[in-house]
Amino acid sequence: MEEKKARSTFSSLGFVLAAAGSAVGLGNLWRFPYLAAKDGGGLFILIYLVLVLSFGFALMTSEIALGRKTQKSPVAAFGEIGKTWKFVGWGATIIPALIIPYYAAIGGWVCKYAFTYLTGHGRDAVDASGGFFQTAIGITADGSVAWQPILWFFIFITATFIIVYLGVENGIEKASVILMPILLIIIIFIAGYSTFVKDEVSGRTALQGLSIYLVPNFKGLTLVKFLNIVLDAMGQMFYSLSLAMGIMITYGSYMKKDSSMPKSINQIELFDTGIALLAGFIMVPTVYCFLGEEGLGSAGPSLMFIALPQVFNGMGSFGLVIGALFFVLVIFAALTSCISLMEAVTATIMDRFNQSRKVSVIITYAIALVIGLIVCLGYNKFLFEVSFASVSGGQILDILDWATNSFLMPIVAILTCIVVGWVWGTDKALEEVQLNGEKFPRKPIFVVMTKYIAPVLLFIILLNSFGLFG
Ligand code: PHE
Repeated sequence: MEEKKARSTFSSLGFVLAAAGSAVGLGNLWRFPYLAAKDGGGLFILIYLVLVLSFGFALMTSEIALGRKTQKSPVAAFGEIGKTWKFVGWGATIIPALIIPYYAAIGGWVCKYAFTYLTGHGRDAVDASGGFFQTAIGITADGSVAWQPILWFFIFITATFIIVYLGVENGIEKASVILMPILLIIIIFIAGYSTFVKDEVSGRTALQGLSIYLVPNFKGLTLVKFLNIVLDAMGQMFYSLSLAMGIMITYGSYMKKDSSMPKSINQIELFDTGIALLAGFIMVPTVYCFLGEEGLGSAGPSLMFIALPQVFNGMGSFGLVIGALFFVLVIFAALTSCISLMEAVTATIMDRFNQSRKVSVIITYAIALVIGLIVCLGYNKFLFEVSFASVSGGQILDILDWATNSFLMPIVAILTCIVVGWVWGTDKALEEVQLNGEKFPRKPIFVVMTKYIAPVLLFIILLNSFGLFG
């Protein structure tokens, strides 16, 4: 007989806030607003909401149920359903291991911005040409090694390491219970303030920009465009809810048997979507107000790291305070997400190789440090040209991002649906979901989605990653 050690557990609130902490991250604060602005405002939001409540909900339920039922991290959890399926668990563990280094590298950039604002130098970050940002990520004119991004990355990843090292109750739960409510208060405050700002130069107000965000824009909408919006929303939903990377399985394994799963899932969805909506509510109108329609075109990093400092600058001297609060908020969001990534890998090493938390987390940290260093150095012009560009033609950060989000995640998610829907069976999953006799009104959606619709949608996402839909 296998020896049983008591597994760590979250309190009911701790579970919700830790899972919401994982879900709320850079995706909510940065990618959601950008996609909403690009994809027809209210139309994107509407599609996104429908997807979260059906597709995302089904996958999240599957993962949490699998975790709580087996009380194991991904590899062992899938192994429990059938030895053949262990590889799905490995897939789900490799993904966070690959995401940690680049997520923490971006976390480092955010720390640098927060530090700049907190020390009263926020105006230095205002640079429309992107020079400040380039320095922050380590692009040097002469190809010398930039130490700053490495230092900030190191600080961010080490903070993550310390919290995971402290454990489920004393580290992750404590951090989530403190950071998430503060995050919520800050974002509501900024949303309230930013709604009423006005640009004295152009005369535009944020309120005028609000319609771009909220009113569905059907102008020039074709079927192909519509499908592309749906695909954008699906990919975003997936990433935002931290699905298919072993996290919800791992966190589910720490969920108390007497906590209500349906209720917790509702709360996580509400938290994650609420923060994304608020982030869009802040960014789309203010960027429109201070930078006009062209400003809304800023994609990728330039929205947060180049456009927003200009927006804060436009708000006058109080803008510096808002900027500081904003980047602190982003640190909290990114930190709780990175914690969940590190925990998923650590828990797998603990369970699979029977190691202590201490040893497991140190191994995870060491791997993250090495790959993270390579990610940071990837921006070094000289090293990049000599070693990487010739091989890949892309940035290391972007390659890792593509490999995980566009390639591995859809595959792991399809397999998760198959294992939960057909091998383990939705009936068994439902038993776990309703263990304490809870009502589960979305039961039919869960069953139909997991067994039939989600795998097909995921397959379409996968094909889209290879550019099949233009
Ligand atoms: N869900 C997080 C976000 O929205 C991203 C994330 C990805 C978190 C992977 C953990 C793991 O930014």
